[in-house]
Amino acid sequence: MPGLTIGDTVPNLELDSTHGKIRIHDYVGDGYAIIFSHPADFTPVCTTEMAAMAGYAKEFEKRGVKLLGISCDDVESHREWTKDIEAYGGGKHKVTYPILADPGRDAIRQLNMVDPDEKDAKGKDAKGVSLPSRALHVVGPDKAVKLSFLYPATTGRNMDEVLRAVDSLLTAAKHGGKVATPANWKPGECAVIAPGVSDEEARKMFPQGFETADLPSKKGYLRFTKV
Ligand code: BEZ
Repeated sequence: MPGLTIGDTVPNLELDSTHGKIRIHDYVGDGYAIIFSHPADFTPVCTTEMAAMAGYAKEFEKRGVKLLGISCDDVESHREWTKDIEAYGGGKHKVTYPILADPGRDAIRQLNMVDPDEKDAKGKDAKGVSLPSRALHVVGPDKAVKLSFLYPATTGRNMDEVLRAVDSLLTAAKHGGKVATPANWKPGECAVIAPGVSDEEARKMFPQGFETADLPSKKGYLRFTKV
């Protein structure tokens, strides 16, 4: 994926939003934030995703993770659209997170969130111009991208997976990158010990012990531990 990727510092853009002007680094602050783009306001998949995010907002908040939406329409449009999003969610969840406005499509380019195949069909001045993809960056306290999703406009994201991925990132960070999470991991399940950690080091780091999978190679690299 060319452009902004894992390890890069997210550009410190200042943009209008439904919560007033936001400067990205200030918004991220000392915690984690999820910046997620949507092709356009008043589109079907985006409306379901925004409502789903509103429903998960408390879970992210519990983990100290802020949410920040971005769509390429203006703030007035975002405010009108928010009424639809909340109504679609049955009025159960308010959209409490800000939605950035990027009518000029400059921010989505800098954030590497453009879908070159998806063109604006309704924009007055922007007809035929590329729309944002369904991109999502998890940004850490150091303002660097920790994880990115890149989905096309036709595939709505799974918020359970966003939450699971965030839990994985937070778990790995809590243990200084000495643990990783295996396939389909969920919080409460065993993590694996990272490859650079020797058994001796692991015994000191994980007094609860660890279990090594018995594999044909006998290399002893797949070690599970409770975290
Ligand atoms: C949608 O949000 O439903 C959507 C937006 C652009 C293209 C296709 C679907």
